[in-house]
Amino acid sequence: MPRDLPPTKATVLISGDGSNLQALIDAAPLMPHLKIVRVISNKAGANGLNRAKAASIPTAYHNLVSGKYYAAGEKDPAVKAAAREKYDADLAKIVLADSPDIVVCAGWMHILTSKFLDPLAEKNVPVINLHPALPKQYDGANAIERAYDDYHKGKLENDTTGIMMHYVISEVDRGEPIVIRKIQCKTPETLDELKTRMHSQEHELILEGTQLAISDLWEKRSKSE
Ligand code: GRF
Repeated sequence: MPRDLPPTKATVLISGDGSNLQALIDAAPLMPHLKIVRVISNKAGANGLNRAKAASIPTAYHNLVSGKYYAAGEKDPAVKAAAREKYDADLAKIVLADSPDIVVCAGWMHILTSKFLDPLAEKNVPVINLHPALPKQYDGANAIERAYDDYHKGKLENDTTGIMMHYVISEVDRGEPIVIRKIQCKTPETLDELKTRMHSQEHELILEGTQLAISDLWEKRSKSE
């Protein structure tokens, strides 16, 4: 990996274990330009927050219910939609307060609307995401489970699923791919075994995709100077 990129501040968004965050933390010798300025979780119990703290990275917890955007059990779609917009606008403020160069969604299980994406775009801060499926396949949650089921029903094209890093737009998992990796399903293999195999590939791909997006953002900045 090239070592001559300018210092690059990244905010990492997580919701869970944070093994992909850990891959980014552990990549410090390979990506000395990358500084994770904050890890933000929408789940209080996300292990990724512990991983961040162990690496002395500042953290923030931003949650719809505990943040009183709406009450637990709220059913009114209009109330929920308005609350999510406010939540996303506030998330943008929390992120931008650190003046990051890039935002990396590493297992962030929350849809990002234009109320988050627009303020980031105004500051030319790209938002990228890791997703365990190939482009235009299995958008959204439970992508690995759905590919596994289709494989066993003989409905998975070329018996192949995959993983990708892509730019984030408001259509879930539909932004421009940065890098993809195909993964062949096989028999016998349990769902947990496939998940383990895909996660270990993700830990490589997140570095590759983040590096490519960082290179691209500095190239764009140098052209606009
Ligand atoms: C990964 O499979 C990612 O692709 C998906 O959520 C998982 C997060 O894993 N969106 P971790 O929290 O990084 O361990």
